[in-house]
Amino acid sequence: MKVKKAVIPAAGLGTRMLPATKTVPKEMLPLVDKPAIQYIVEEAVAAGIEDILIVTNRSKSAMDDYFDYYPELEDRLNASQKERELAEIRRAADLANIFYVRQKETRGLGHAIWRAKHFVGDEPFAVLLGDDIMRAKTPVIGQLIQAAEKYQCSAVGVQQVPTEAISKYCSLKVEALEDNVFTVDDLVEKPRREEIFSNYAILGRYVLSPAIFDILEDLKPGVGGEIQLTDGLRQLCRQDRMVAVDFEGKRYDTGNVRGFLEASLDFSLDHPLTGQWLREYIRKKAKEL
Ligand code: UTP
Repeated sequence: MKVKKAVIPAAGLGTRMLPATKTVPKEMLPLVDKPAIQYIVEEAVAAGIEDILIVTNRSKSAMDDYFDYYPELEDRLNASQKERELAEIRRAADLANIFYVRQKETRGLGHAIWRAKHFVGDEPFAVLLGDDIMRAKTPVIGQLIQAAEKYQCSAVGVQQVPTEAISKYCSLKVEALEDNVFTVDDLVEKPRREEIFSNYAILGRYVLSPAIFDILEDLKPGVGGEIQLTDGLRQLCRQDRMVAVDFEGKRYDTGNVRGFLEASLDFSLDHPLTGQWLREYIRKKAKEL
């Protein structure tokens, strides 16, 4: 089993980031100098994936344009010897083979992934949520692929979240396999207190068996009237083996304002163009507070 393809669902409406996301896809909002979606594509590429499908909708064509060439702009940058900028925009367009499919109705994450059925075919595939950005030494999706290939099964990326926060996530019933890898026996989306299995929550990264497509096809709408991926995952972990990987790395939910600001700050502090300057600015600012 080899994981060669990735799917990035990015067709959500982004209501937590309004009004900005009324016309700009949240995946195109910049973290320092690159749109959020580029970090996700780079993570997949760093894990050895070459073919990537982005699930979009009718208001997100800025993403297709971003990963395309732009000859007029390139000519201008060339003429004015802006070599760094030229190299950067070319690099983004050449990162991977990127494909697009539209989710014609916003019917939930499970439905968005089901739209990838023809692209994926009959092989295991990676899923990286379009608004979950990871900062890690080893690409998080690569950590999952390693476990999925070792155990020949689906894998989900998890971390422990505080008990008071687990009701916003999907809680997993797990049994230890090795240090940071567990067997998933069951899971529950947005559990009430008495339904919590554990503090391990799925955080935006998956390697899925193609069996998920038949499951998603037959699913009835769940919470919020949407086709929920976690309803599909519950069936998948009951019929086939699934492991959870407690991954190394920090996850940012850039689909909400606070998560987006945290990511902006951390990425800017790390960035050679802004790190030093931002440190000094923060020190100055802290004295004023
Ligand atoms: P979210 O719930 O985080 O994104 O979905 P959203 O729906 O855009 O956000 P809000 O709540 O309105 O602010 C998780 C992922 O699933 C995708 C989103 O783009 C995001 O990557 N998604 C969600 C779809 O692709 N299609 C959908 O119908 C719903």
